[in-house]
Amino acid sequence: MFLTYQTQRIKINSKNPEKIKIRKAAAIIKNGGIVAFPTETVYGLGANALNPKAVRKIFLAKGRPFDDPLIIHINDFEDVSKLALEVSPLAKKIMKKYWPGPLTVILKKSKLVPKITTGGQKTVAIRMPYNKIASSLIKESATPIAAPSANLFGKPSPTLAEHVLEDLDGKIDLVIDGGKTSIGLESTVLDLTSNIPVLLRPGKISYEELCLLGKITLTNSLKGRKLKNLISKSPGMKYKHYAPNAKIILVKGQTKKCMKKISSLIKKYHNENKKTGVISTTKKNPPKSDMTLFVGKTNKTIAKNLFEAFRNFDKKGIDVILVKEISNSDLGFAIMNRLEKAAYQTVIA
Ligand code: TXA
Ligand code: MG
Repeated sequence: MFLTYQTQRIKINSKNPEKIKIRKAAAIIKNGGIVAFPTETVYGLGANALNPKAVRKIFLAKGRPFDDPLIIHINDFEDVSKLALEVSPLAKKIMKKYWPGPLTVILKKSKLVPKITTGGQKTVAIRMPYNKIASSLIKESATPIAAPSANLFGKPSPTLAEHVLEDLDGKIDLVIDGGKTSIGLESTVLDLTSNIPVLLRPGKISYEELCLLGKITLTNSLKGRKLKNLISKSPGMKYKHYAPNAKIILVKGQTKKCMKKISSLIKKYHNENKKTGVISTTKKNPPKSDMTLFVGKTNKTIAKNLFEAFRNFDKKGIDVILVKEISNSDLGFAIMNRLEKAAYQTVIA
C-alpha cells in the first residue's frame, strides 16, 4: 500500500523556535503522523516512538528494512527509566556528561517500547538532542520520538531540509526547515548493555574522548573496517549506507602520492568518458576534475559538508568521486568510517 502525502514545509528559527509552529508540528506527531526535523547531527524523521502504527510509517517512507532499529529521542532524563531497564551507574554517568548532545546509548529495553521501534531487538537506542527545534518538538509532543536519519534508505543522511525533500517529498507529513545541521554526521552510538561499553558507530563524541572514562571496545566492523566483517550488534550497520549514486574511490597513502594517483585516475576516467569529481580539503592546486568541491580544511568543516557534497555531485551527474584519506583520529575516525562505508573502491597510492 502506498500512501501519498501533501508534504508541508515550515521554517523555524533554530535559536528561538516559534512556539506556534512547534505546536503545529507536535500536533502531527500526536496524531500519529511523521515529521522531519533538524537535530545537531543530521535531520531525523520522527514519529511517536510508543505508537507502532506511526513508527511503521517511518520504515515505509524510507524504504528501511524492518529489522533496522530506530533511535528514540527524549528531552527529559526521567524518560530513560521508562524506556530502559538496568541503567548502570556508568551509563548514568555517561548520559549526564554528554546529554543533551550527539551521543546515542544502547540499553536493555522496557516493555513500554514497541517491538517495531527496536527492530525486534531486546535493546533500545536512546539519545537526547541539544538542537532547540528537536528538544522543543519532543517536549511539545509529550512523547519520546523515534527518528532515523530522514533520507531514503541507503542515501546519505540529510544536513539540509532540501535534502529531506529530495528523498521524501510526498511521503511524509511535514519537514521543519531549521537550516544546515551543525555537526553533519550522525551521533556516536555506544552500547552499554555489557560490562565494557562497545562503540558501534563513531561520531562527534570521539572514541578517544570516551576512552578517558574507562575501557571502551570497538565493535568488530570498526576494528577491521571491512563490510564483510559486519554482523555486529548494530543491525543497521550490515547494510551499505550513506552512498551517493556516483562511485566513490577512496585513495590511501602518503599525501603527494595520493594527489598523483588522483590525477592519473581522473585521466583514466576521462578517457572512458566518465565525469569525475574531487572532494578537496585544500584550495591550493586541487586536481583538475569536472567538479571539485572544497569541504574545508578542518575535521569539523569536513564533517559538516561531506554529505552535502555527496548529494551535489549526484545533482551534476558526476560518475566517479575521488577523495584522499584523512587522519583517522578523533572526528577523523567518524569521517573515515562514513567514507569507507560509502566507498565503491579503496586504492592504495
Ligand atoms: O544522529 C543521529 O543518530 C540521527 C539523528 C536523527 O538523531 N539518527 C540516526 O538514526 O542516524 P539512524 O537510524 O539513521 O541510525 C541509527 C543507528 C543504526 O545503525 C541502527 O542500527 C543503530 O543506530 N541502532 C539503533 N538501535 C539499536 C539497537 N537497539 N542496538 C544496536 N544498534 C542500534
Ligand atoms: Mg541513517
